[in-house]
Amino acid sequence: MDKIIIKGGIPLKGRVKLSGSKNSALPILAATLLAEGTSNIENLPLLKDIETMLRILDSLGAKIELGKRSVKINTESVRNFTAPYDLVRTMRGSICILGPLLARFGRAVVSLPGGCVIGPRPIDLHLKGLEKLGAKIEMKKGDIKAKAKKLKGKRIFLGGAFGSSVLATANLMMAATLADGETLIEFAACEPEVADLANFLNGMGAKIDGAGSHFLRIKGVRRLKGGTYRIVPDRIEAGTYLVAGLITKGEVAIEGAISRHLGAVIDKIEEAGAKVEIKKENSLHIKNSGGLKSVNVITLPYPGFPTDMQAQFMALMCLAKGTSIITERIFPKRFIHVGELNRMGADISMEGDSAIVKGGRVFIGTRVMASDLRASAALILAALAAKGETEISRVYHLDRGYERLVEKLSTLGAKIKRVE
Ligand code: EPZ
Repeated sequence: MDKIIIKGGIPLKGRVKLSGSKNSALPILAATLLAEGTSNIENLPLLKDIETMLRILDSLGAKIELGKRSVKINTESVRNFTAPYDLVRTMRGSICILGPLLARFGRAVVSLPGGCVIGPRPIDLHLKGLEKLGAKIEMKKGDIKAKAKKLKGKRIFLGGAFGSSVLATANLMMAATLADGETLIEFAACEPEVADLANFLNGMGAKIDGAGSHFLRIKGVRRLKGGTYRIVPDRIEAGTYLVAGLITKGEVAIEGAISRHLGAVIDKIEEAGAKVEIKKENSLHIKNSGGLKSVNVITLPYPGFPTDMQAQFMALMCLAKGTSIITERIFPKRFIHVGELNRMGADISMEGDSAIVKGGRVFIGTRVMASDLRASAALILAALAAKGETEISRVYHLDRGYERLVEKLSTLGAKIKRVE
C-alpha cells in the first residue's frame, strides 16, 4: 500500500487550481440513468469515487466513453438493475442510483450501505421518500429491493434528526422528475451540489423549482433527454487548501473557488484573525503570518459550517492561541482524526459530540494512518506544519476525494512524495 511522506515546516506559496466537485459529480453521473440518449459531463475530478460510480453504471449496461476530465454516457442499453455489492460497499454515495433506476426502469437492487468510520449512515429518509412516491421496498439479506410501476408525485417532508439529507434530497428529486404529477419536498438539503444536480436535470428537460432552498417543487415529465453539464469546483477541496495556506503560515491563491460556497468557512477563518481576499476571477487568496486565535465551530447543514471541513479546521485550531470547542451536529461520531492528531502532538479531548482543542501546540512528525477521507486530509495538513518528517499510510482514502494531491501540494512548495 502507498504511503505519503511529508517534510513539514515549509510555508506554502503559490496558486492551486481546483478540480470539479466529487459530491456534485456523483449524483449527476447517477442522473444520466434518467435520460434517453447521451449525456456529456465535463470538469469531472479524477478520483477513485468517480471511477467507482462509472464502473457501477457500466455494470448496469450503460455505454461509457471516457475523456480526460469528461465522460459521455448513454443509458439506452441499461438492462441490469442490480448494483454490484463489491462496488457499492466501497462508496456510500452509490445509494443515489436508487431514485433514477426506480423512476426510469421501475426496479432497483442496491446493497445497504454498511457503517463507516464517520458513524452510522442510515437511509430511512431515502426509503420514506421513495415509498411516499409509491415504490415498494423490501430489505433482503442486506439488499434494498425496490419496485415501482409508476411513481406518483406527493408532498414529502424530508427532515430528519440531523436536519436535511443531501443524498436523500438528490434521490427524491431525481425520482420525482419522471413521476406522475407534482412532488413537493419540504426540508430539502440546500447544498450547492443539490442545486448543481437540479441545474443538470432541468437541462435534460426536468421541471424543478426552488433548488438551493429547503422547498423543492418538481413537476413530473414523460421523459428526459441527455444533457451536457460542467461540474462546479469542489468547495471542500478549496477549503482544504485555504487551511493548508494558513497552517503553514504561507500565502496561497485558490483558482476557481466560488466564495459563496464557503461563506461559513471564510467567516471562521476571519474570526480567527486571518484575511481571505476574494478576487474577481473566482479566486481566493489567503496569507497568514501567524498568530491565529482559537474559535469555536459547530457543523451544520449548508450554508452552515460544513462537516466535511471539520477535521481540517481542527488541525488548524491545534496551532491557534487559546482553546477551541468543535461540535459535530451532522455526524456526531466524526472524530476518528482526534487520536492521530494527538499522536502528532495535539492536545484534544472529547466531551460528547464536542472536541476540546487546546491551541498553542507544535506538531511533531511521526507515522500515522489515514482512515476516512477528510480525517486523512487533516493529517496531511498537520504534517505540512509539523517539525520533522511524517509518514502517512493507507493513502487510498485520500485518492477517493483529492485529485493529484501530491502534485498540487508540491507546486505550492511542499516537500511531499508518494512511495509504494
Ligand atoms: C453527503 O453525504 C456527502 N457525500 C458527505 O460527504 C457529507 O458529509 C454529507 O452529505 C453532509 O453534508 C456525498 O455527497 C457523496 P446526509 P450524505 O444524508 O448525503 C442523517 C465526504 O467526505 N441521515 O446529508 O450521505 C445522516 O446520518 C462525504 O465527501 C439520516 O438520519 O449525508 C447524517 O447525520 C462524507 N437518514 C445527516 O442525516 C437518512 O436517510 C446528514 O447526512 C439520511 C441521512
